[in-house]
Amino acid sequence: MKNQTVAPARSISGTVEVPGDKSISHRYAILAALARGRSEIEGYSAAADCHSTLDCLKGLGVAIDMTGNRGEHVSITGAGLDGLRRPHRALDAGNSGTTIRLLTGVLAGQTFDTTISGDASLVRRPMRRVLEPLERMGARIQARDGNFAPLEVQGSVLRPIDYKLAVPSAQVKSAVLLAGLFAEGQTSIEEPVRTRDHTEVALAEFGAEVQRIGHTVRISGRRQLTPRHLTVPGDLSAAVFFLAAALVLPDSQVVVHNVGLNPTRSAVLDVLTSWGAAVNVVSVRGESGELIGDVAIRHAPLSGGVLEGEAVAQLIDELPMIAALGPYTEEGVELRDAGELRVKESDRIAVLAENLRRMGAQVEERRDGLRVEGRRAGRLRGAEVDPHGDHRMAMAFAVAALGAEGPSVIRDADCVAISYPEFFATLERLVDRKANIA
Ligand code: S3P
Repeated sequence: MKNQTVAPARSISGTVEVPGDKSISHRYAILAALARGRSEIEGYSAAADCHSTLDCLKGLGVAIDMTGNRGEHVSITGAGLDGLRRPHRALDAGNSGTTIRLLTGVLAGQTFDTTISGDASLVRRPMRRVLEPLERMGARIQARDGNFAPLEVQGSVLRPIDYKLAVPSAQVKSAVLLAGLFAEGQTSIEEPVRTRDHTEVALAEFGAEVQRIGHTVRISGRRQLTPRHLTVPGDLSAAVFFLAAALVLPDSQVVVHNVGLNPTRSAVLDVLTSWGAAVNVVSVRGESGELIGDVAIRHAPLSGGVLEGEAVAQLIDELPMIAALGPYTEEGVELRDAGELRVKESDRIAVLAENLRRMGAQVEERRDGLRVEGRRAGRLRGAEVDPHGDHRMAMAFAVAALGAEGPSVIRDADCVAISYPEFFATLERLVDRKANIA
């Protein structure tokens, strides 16, 4: 495990391409594995999480080839809806909640039994939320204490259900939609709060019969999928760290090319803009049902503010970075209704509070959120930061450290590989330390 020192910087500038979107990469891989024939995926994410999905699919007998400098071109030859094979050993989802939750939906409808588990963080995360709707569909799944991996999934004949999501979670919605592919008839899911819709979009691309009306998605099961040639847009949730760095450091401007702008993911741009950031979105185009464009940002003072209610689900992966920007804002940042952050790769509320305090910020930790005081509480100072193995924490604090007084050390910083293996190298390329300010 490698520590990473982050020295303060003067500014950040330049252009960057981020890895392929993590959520979309998982979905393209799973659907390609269920289609009959060869799909080609360009720009597949380099994230360790997305490679966990590929490894699980290989374990299920799917032929997968990776080429390109970082394995970003992936060909997947599926054998159709009933083409998966009983794995020789338990599947390992690593650190990836998306892998285990989405694949459990697929595994529930097979003719064989599978065990799927993951690393020390993943086995602490709640799975009841996917097991409950899947059991209603006829799935039989044994979980540790009824809620945690390892999950022993007995293949079953599934029936369609009408389900209302209890937790606003794209992973739960997706697990039910994928299980719905194996159930004879129409499965419908209503989501009170809109979450990312990449599964619905990708299902349509692969030829599934899927419809969205208002907040309800319907899928007709037992239809064969057709293989596709698709390109994954860049990951906006990764790009956000560079956008935020430009807001931390004066005289900065950053352009991120070819990044995904799906409206269920891009709320972060609206928040930053409403707080005063100068954001420009150009060259917007649609590709395979997803929006892609270039995002440019220039440094500007940030007001900060309160984020609560439905906004939380739309910003879920960006909240760590937004909270860590708190000390760089006028009014501070307050997150409410954000209890979901406690069941991510780490307890993100606790880990944010712990490390912001280590850097000298004033923080009030609450059950379902936190309040981080703004500039007036004083400048951050360099500190030893412990991201608790959570990639987004490591990246958020690396960015916060750029504007602090004195260097910081991010412990076990190689956890960034979960979503962005090249993060530190890219950050170093973009920052200017010539006239170091601390
Ligand atoms: C994801 C959904 C979100 C998000 C995660 C990726 C997905 O999780 O936090 O990083 O790809 O569907 P939840 O569904 O638990 O909110």
